[in-house]
Amino acid sequence: MSSETQNTDLQQEHQRHIVPLDGFTRTHCCGELNATNLGHEVRLSGWVQFRRDHGGLIFVDLRDRTGLTQVVFIPEVAPAAHEAAHILRGEYVIALDGYVRARPEGMANPNMPTGEIEVVVRSWKLLNTSKTPPFIIEDRIDPGENLRLQYRYLDLRRPRMTRNLMLRHSVAQAVRRYLDELGFVEVETPFLTKSTPEGARDFLVPSRVNQGEFYALPQSPQLFKQLLMISGLDRYFQIARCFRDEDLRADRQPEFTQVDIEMSFVDEETVMTMAEGLMARVMKDALGKNIPLPFPRMTFAEAMRDYGVDKPDTRFDLRLKNVTDIVSGSGFRLFASAELVKAMRVPGGEGMSRKEIDEWTEFVRIYGAQGLAWIKIRRQEGAPDGQHEWQSPIAKFLSEEERAGLTQCLGLEAGDIVFFQAGAPDMVNAALGNLRVKLGEQLGLADKEAFNFLWVTDFPLFEYDEEEKRYAACHHPFTSPKNATPEQLLADPARALARAYDMVLNGTELGGGSIRNHSAQVQRGMFAALGFSEEEAERQFGFLTQALEMGAPPHGGIAFGLDRMVMLLAGAESIRDVIAFPKTQKATCLLTEAPSAVGNKQLRELGLQLREKDKP
Ligand code: AMO
Repeated sequence: MSSETQNTDLQQEHQRHIVPLDGFTRTHCCGELNATNLGHEVRLSGWVQFRRDHGGLIFVDLRDRTGLTQVVFIPEVAPAAHEAAHILRGEYVIALDGYVRARPEGMANPNMPTGEIEVVVRSWKLLNTSKTPPFIIEDRIDPGENLRLQYRYLDLRRPRMTRNLMLRHSVAQAVRRYLDELGFVEVETPFLTKSTPEGARDFLVPSRVNQGEFYALPQSPQLFKQLLMISGLDRYFQIARCFRDEDLRADRQPEFTQVDIEMSFVDEETVMTMAEGLMARVMKDALGKNIPLPFPRMTFAEAMRDYGVDKPDTRFDLRLKNVTDIVSGSGFRLFASAELVKAMRVPGGEGMSRKEIDEWTEFVRIYGAQGLAWIKIRRQEGAPDGQHEWQSPIAKFLSEEERAGLTQCLGLEAGDIVFFQAGAPDMVNAALGNLRVKLGEQLGLADKEAFNFLWVTDFPLFEYDEEEKRYAACHHPFTSPKNATPEQLLADPARALARAYDMVLNGTELGGGSIRNHSAQVQRGMFAALGFSEEEAERQFGFLTQALEMGAPPHGGIAFGLDRMVMLLAGAESIRDVIAFPKTQKATCLLTEAPSAVGNKQLRELGLQLREKDKP
C-alpha cells in the first residue's frame, strides 16, 4: 500500500473522532499569547502545524492566521487528552483548552513571538481531519508557483502569504480613512459597460438579451469618474477592479485593483499634493514609516535623458550620457552613423566576465538592440596616473581626442566598464535604460529598505504607434493638453505635452493621472488628432462630449495600482503574491480552471457559435 493510501485510510478512520464545536469557542488567537498570560486558562483553535512525540509528552505547534503557539499534552495532567492526541496529523483542525505556563529552562524560542510560553492541554476536540497536503505549510518551503496556485487556500495559510493579505487590508483601510477624512465619496461604477480605452484590449461579455451585442469590462472607471464630476459629486474615490486583456508580467494581471480618485476645481498641484498625502498616510499606517514630502519631480524628458525609461529607479545612481557628438567622427561606423549614441558608466564593473557581458548583450536584444558595445578601463601597471588601458573590441577605433572626450563626459576611472548603445533614440533608451535596471538588481545597487518616491511630469500627449501608423494617446484620450490649442494639436501632435503625472516608486509605476478636458471642443480636438472621424468619435464617446457640454467643471485625478502598491510595501517579487486568487502568466486560474469551455445551450442562448477550429 502506498503511503498516500495509508494516509487517506488513516484520515478516514480519524474522521470518526470529529465532533461539533458546540460553543467551545476560542478566548485567544494562537499568535497573541506571551508571558503576560502566564497562569491564564485559555481556549485556542487552529491547524496542527507539526506534532512531535517527545519523552512521553506530545507537542503540537498550533497555527491560525495570527501565528503559532506550542501546546503540550501531558499524560499526568490529562491522560485521555494525551492518549487521543496520537491521531493528530499536519493540518488537522482542533480546538483545545488548557493553561499557559512558561517553557522550561532553556526551551524558550526567542525567534517566536509566543516563544516564552506553552499551553498545557486539559481537553481538546477534533473539528476536522486533513489529507496530507501537497506541500508543507511553511515559508521556507517553495513548492513551485503552479502547485501554490492550484492549492491556493493552502498557500494562503503560509505566514508570509497571510501577512501579505493582512498588509493589503491595512493599506486599503488607510486609503479609505484618508480619503474619507478629506471628503471623498466612495461610489461604485459599472462592470458591464462600454469600452474605456486605456491602451489594452477589452474583455467582452456577450449580451443574452441583446444578441450580437457586447459589454466591455472596464479597463478603468475613467469615464464614469469624469461623469461623476459633471454630476457635481466633487470628490470621488473607489477601490475598483479593472480588466485589461494584455500580456502579463510580474507586475500585471488581467484583473487588478485601482485606488481610483477624481476631484473637481483642481489643477495638477492639488491632485499631486493629495496623492503624496495619501502615500504618506499609507506608509505610516501600514508600515509605521514616515516619508519625506513633497516628492522629488522630474520631467519625462529628463527621465528619458538620464535613465532611458519613464519610471526611473532613483535608489542607485547609474546615469546615461549622450555621447553622440563626441563619437560622431569615429572610425567605428556604427557610432559615426547613429542618430543617437548613449553610454552608461558602471563603476567597479571592470571585473565583469565575458560570460556576463554576453548575458547583458542577449538581454538588450529584447529591446531591439543588435549588440552591446563595451569598454573596460584598466589600470596600466607602471604607467603614470591617469593613463589607463582601454580594453574593448572597439577601442582601436577611438582616437585620443574621443577617449579624452568620453573620459571627461563620463568621469571615467580605472576599474570601470562602460556600455554603449547606438541607433534610433527609442531603442537606445529602452536598451540602456532597462540594462541599467537589470544591473541595479544583479549588482545589488539598490538599497532594499529604501522607498524612493518620484513624480514624472510633462509627458508627451501622444505617442506614435508604428504598427497602426497613427498617433495614440500616451495616457488616455481624456487628458488635457498643456498649452496647446486644438489647431496646434492637429498641426503638430508630436510636440504636444500632456497635463499628466505618474507617481513612481523604486522604478515601478505606482499610479498615473491627469487634468482632463472639461471643454467639449478640446475633447473633440483630441479625438480628431487621434485620427477618429467625427462620426466614430460621436458613436464611441458621444455620451461624454454631450455631458461635457452641460456645465462640466474643471477636473482631474489619479489612479494607483493597489496590487503594485502592496507588492512594493510587502517586498514581494510579484503582484501575484499580494492578490488572493491571481491568474497565471497565461491568464488562467489553476484553482478553478477558468477559463473553461461552455455548453452549446449556453452559447445558443447568447447567440454565439464557435468556429470548428476554436472548439476545445
Ligand atoms: P493607468 O492606466 O496608468 O491609468 O493605470 C493606473 C495604475 O494602475 C496600475 N495598473 C496595473 N496594475 C496591475 N496590472 C495591470 N494590468 C495594470 N495596469 C495598470 C498601475 C498604473 O499606474 N484611468 C487612468 C487613471 C487616471 O487618469 O486617473 C488609468 O487607468 O499601477
